[in-house]
Amino acid sequence: MGNEAGMMSATSTEGTAERPLRIAAAGDVHCAPENRDLTEAAFARLAGTADLLLLAGDLTTHGEPEQAAVLADACRPLEMPIFAVLGNHDWHTNQGEELRGVLADGGITLLQRETAVCELHGVRVGIVGAKGFVGGFEGSFLPDFGEPLLREVYAEAGREVDALDHGLAAVAGCDLRIALMHYAPTPATLQGEPPGIFAFLGSGRLADPIARHRPDLVLHGHAHAGTVEGTIEGVPVFNVSVPVIRRDFWLFEHVGAARAEREGLRLRTA
Ligand SMILES: [Fe+2]
Ligand SMILES: [Fe+2]
Repeated sequence: MGNEAGMMSATSTEGTAERPLRIAAAGDVHCAPENRDLTEAAFARLAGTADLLLLAGDLTTHGEPEQAAVLADACRPLEMPIFAVLGNHDWHTNQGEELRGVLADGGITLLQRETAVCELHGVRVGIVGAKGFVGGFEGSFLPDFGEPLLREVYAEAGREVDALDHGLAAVAGCDLRIALMHYAPTPATLQGEPPGIFAFLGSGRLADPIARHRPDLVLHGHAHAGTVEGTIEGVPVFNVSVPVIRRDFWLFEHVGAARAEREGLRLRTA
């Protein structure tokens, strides 16, 4: 906590075109009025340390607009672009569209099977936002079979897969391509979770478009007890769930073709 300024000044050449693009990411911030002070303090510390903020879902505890307003208030002073996907907690009261408006008021753009492209420090960044869904992984896939309700779960995951596929194709020409999700597309970043619940933490079907389009970075949250880093056929996947990263934000630097991650700031620990 105490050496953040020194850490940043050692690598930052602020104000020059050469300074690397800095991306902050976090999932499962689970905002609510009860943690307003912690939330506002953490996001305030982010000012000046990142050029882009990506939030990997579970923005709130139960999807209430006043909970999203806590996040919006914390983000409003930040001058960087902010993109987010919703998580399962954000859908709990089924007010997704209301949340979109509240978050937009704080400068947060919700990506729900949508893409965004922005130019930051001369880097054209393409972000594909799709929440993902459940369904399991090799050896425990939910099949497209049986009761209509179960088949609808399968179909919903398929719609997320299609959105990733189309979105990643749409941003193919960008210098930096990022897939932003809530659910995990690989069991690699679930290690630490009970294997019995992997099927509820993500779907291996989400890995297909990632392997096909090979984005530069895949971010997800949701698995609070998982592992930070994994890969899908060499594509880097980061579980940036705050309890997993044990800091407020995971920071990435983009330096041409090479990327390096660096420690971020502490929001809270699990
Ligand atoms: Fe969560
Ligand atoms: Fe979640």
